[in-house]
Amino acid sequence: MAAPALADAPLAADAANTTPMTRTSSHLIYFSSASENTRRFVEKLGRDAARIPLHQREAELVASEPFVLVVPTYGGTGGEGSVPKQVIRFLNNPQNRTLIRGVISAGNTNFGDNFCMAGDIIAFKCQIPHLYRFELMGTPEDVRLVNQGLDKFWTLLSQTQK
Ligand SMILES: Cc1cc2nc3c(=O)[nH]c(=O)nc-3n(C[C@H](O)[C@H](O)[C@H](O)COP(=O)(O)O)c2cc1C
Repeated sequence: MAAPALADAPLAADAANTTPMTRTSSHLIYFSSASENTRRFVEKLGRDAARIPLHQREAELVASEPFVLVVPTYGGTGGEGSVPKQVIRFLNNPQNRTLIRGVISAGNTNFGDNFCMAGDIIAFKCQIPHLYRFELMGTPEDVRLVNQGLDKFWTLLSQTQK
C-alpha cells in the first residue's frame, strides 16, 4: 500500500509528551471561557483569529507567526491566578512565548484594582506592551479602537523589526 499523503498524516505531535498540536499563523490569538464574552468581542473585530483550547484533551495551539494575545482575567483572592491556566499552558510553550508581541485584556470593573490584571501580569512576564483593556464583550468604541490600534501596531512593528 502507498504511504499516506502528507495531508492525511496524523496531526504533528509534540516530541516531549506526544500532545497533538494545531499550528496557527493568525496574528490574533485569544482565550475565552464557556461564558464566551471574549470570543464575542474578537468576532466583532472581523479579523482572522485562533482560539486557545478550553480543555486539556484538545490539541495544543502553537503559533507560527508573531501575534497579539487577547485574554480575560480570572482572579482569585488578591488577584492570584488572574491568568487562566489554559493561557499559562499556552505561554509555557517557548515558541508561543517567543512570538507574542502584545496583550489585550478583558475583565469586569467590579473587580476594582484587579480589573484586567491578567494583561498586566502577561505584559510584565513576557516584556511586551499591554495594548488595551476592555470590559466584558466590549463596546462598539472598543472594537473601533482595537482595530485601529492593531493596524497601527503591526505597521509600526513591520517597520522596526526588519
Ligand atoms: C470567577 C471569576 C473571576 C473573575 N475575576 C476577574 C478579575 O480578577 N478581574 C477582572 O477584571 N475580571 C474578572 N472576571 C470577569 C471576567 O474577566 C469577564 O467576565 C470576562 O469577560 C470573561 O471572559 P470570557 O467569557 O471570554 O471567559 C472574573 C469573572 C469570573 C467568573
